[in-house]
Amino acid sequence: MSILKKIENFREEEERLKWEGTFADYLDMLKEKPLVAQTAHSRVYNMIKDAGVEEVNGKKEYSFFKEQLYGVEESLEKLVEEYFHSAAKRLDVRKRILLLMGPVSGGKSTLVTMLKRGLEQYSRTDNGAVFAIKGCPMHEDPLHLIPNHLRKDFYEEYGIKIEGNLSPLNMMRVEEEYGGRIEDVIVERIFFSEDKRTGIGTFSPSDPKSQDIADLTGSIDFSTIAEYGSESDPRAYRFDGELNKANRGMMEFQEMLKCDEKFLWHLLSLTQEGNFKAGRFALISADELIVAHTNESEYKSFISNKKNEALHSRIIVMKVPYNLKVDEEERIYKKMIADSDLSHVHIAPHALRVAAIFTILTRLKEPTKQGVDLLKKMRLYNGESVEGFNSQDLAELKQEDPDEGMSGIDPRYVINRISSAIIRKQLTSINALDVLRSIKDGLSEHASISKEDRERYMDFIAVARKEYDTIAKKEVQKAFVYSYDESAKTLMDNYLDNVEAYCNKNKLRDPLTGEEMTPDEKLMRSIEEQIGISENAKKAFREEILIRISAYARKGKKFDYNSHERLREAIQKKLFADLKDIVKITTSTKTPDESQLKKVNEVIARLIDEHGYNSTSANELLRYVGSLLNR
Ligand SMILES: Nc1ncnc2c1ncn2[C@@H]1O[C@H](COP(=O)(O)OP(=O)(O)OP(=O)(O)O)[C@@H](O)[C@H]1O
Ligand SMILES: [Mg+2]
Repeated sequence: MSILKKIENFREEEERLKWEGTFADYLDMLKEKPLVAQTAHSRVYNMIKDAGVEEVNGKKEYSFFKEQLYGVEESLEKLVEEYFHSAAKRLDVRKRILLLMGPVSGGKSTLVTMLKRGLEQYSRTDNGAVFAIKGCPMHEDPLHLIPNHLRKDFYEEYGIKIEGNLSPLNMMRVEEEYGGRIEDVIVERIFFSEDKRTGIGTFSPSDPKSQDIADLTGSIDFSTIAEYGSESDPRAYRFDGELNKANRGMMEFQEMLKCDEKFLWHLLSLTQEGNFKAGRFALISADELIVAHTNESEYKSFISNKKNEALHSRIIVMKVPYNLKVDEEERIYKKMIADSDLSHVHIAPHALRVAAIFTILTRLKEPTKQGVDLLKKMRLYNGESVEGFNSQDLAELKQEDPDEGMSGIDPRYVINRISSAIIRKQLTSINALDVLRSIKDGLSEHASISKEDRERYMDFIAVARKEYDTIAKKEVQKAFVYSYDESAKTLMDNYLDNVEAYCNKNKLRDPLTGEEMTPDEKLMRSIEEQIGISENAKKAFREEILIRISAYARKGKKFDYNSHERLREAIQKKLFADLKDIVKITTSTKTPDESQLKKVNEVIARLIDEHGYNSTSANELLRYVGSLLNR
């Protein structure tokens, strides 16, 4: 569909969604769909819920966050259940400011932005629809029109609780424009939009000396005072502060703890009492979610200040720690790169993974559990199986330190180091070693890392590098072995013939001479040793394989190269050991002969076609693995 067509469709959709009617019409609608009158907190909760909730291992995962936030499901579950869900039920947490606390670049702003964009979308859906008194700068809840003395009756009839009082402006309008007939007041459907300042606001403190509370609560409109004659005439007031504009939706309070106290007190009364004071008016009711964010040190210094005690008790703090799973960290980098201007650069396979390994290591706390080292912990956290440990151990590890994930290297640092390496060297292709090197070089310039941490991090660079060596060798090994698929098959058949003869205490027949031979012990052992099968264990291993073969035969399945995981590994390793020499020669200065060159080219082609390399990174990989083997 062309973009012009889409624009047209969008406009038509806008028209279709519009609704306008009298307050009486609105009440009719409420009878059918009471959800329309939900509070701001409830709407946020329903937005998240409606996007889909999945139970994974007894934990809730919300589709709403899935596209942008990875690996922080547990914190999100806590946030949604303990804050949004409770707040939606009108529990007391609703009356507190939500403060997201987490380390730098840990996704706090991403989370808040998702909520904002989400609400904009949601207000356009049936379940998320919002209605307001038409012409009100604060898009006031129409139900405020119901006078206090009738609210009990209203509740009995509609089952809806009304909170908040009609604003001075609308009170005046009802009298002047509608002659006191509230049922005639025009109500319209509104659509949240940060750009249009409807239902979504952002407040970010500026210089404390020049910052005016009016930014939050609006101000007297001096141009109209003369017309209305008095400062206390609400028509002479502009209800255009962020708190006004965010009514019914949410307001993001950036750098809240850096803000002047008097601003915070306004917020407190708003959250606690559901109203705030503006100009010379009675309190103005507002219903909105207030989200702020901060880092740990800022928060600590805030609560250590006695003066902030009262504020403190009215804030609910939710942690947004770093992700601690390698797989998810890799996804974060991929997303950030796709969003950046680096997306045209070739990033060799495993480059991001190796960076992620390093990063996660910096975030993990040293385990105290017996037999677990940091690397094992990292694997367990990533959902990999580690011999001797189960999900119970994983749960225990996670309990060890509640502060885990609140420090370490942030994702933005890694992306910055990758882009700096690319720009500095004008690379069009970058591999794992380039990335690690750049991360390492950057550590000394990183202002906020202590000397102690820097030393630890250097060790982690070495650990990540070792992990890469293993990955790289495996990768080349696999590529080599695949080009030798035939040889692998032959070798396996040969091995199986020998194993069969060995177990049945038979002789083999030489296919050429027809002579009888005893099973080739040397050949069998050379394969078994590749996966560490001892002399004592060889018999059991061979028998196990025969059993597997007959089980396959019984089911009419063909036993092949892939039917036994460990056997396949052994064969691959054996072949690779034999092929090592070729790798060594072809990647050293010695000139390979023609047939060797052909094989190497096949391997490179395979790396490119099937493993995501380009010719630069494939050649680099081979050269690197060659150098590892030559050590
Ligand atoms: N768990 C995560 N999942 C997906 N992306 C993440 C995650 N954590 C961080 N990011 C990415 O890292 C970048 C920085 O995140 P963001 O700006 O949201 O962090 P922040 O906590 O607001 O940081 P700051 O403290 O610097 O304001 C973003 O591109 C974000 O998408
Ligand atoms: Mg931020």
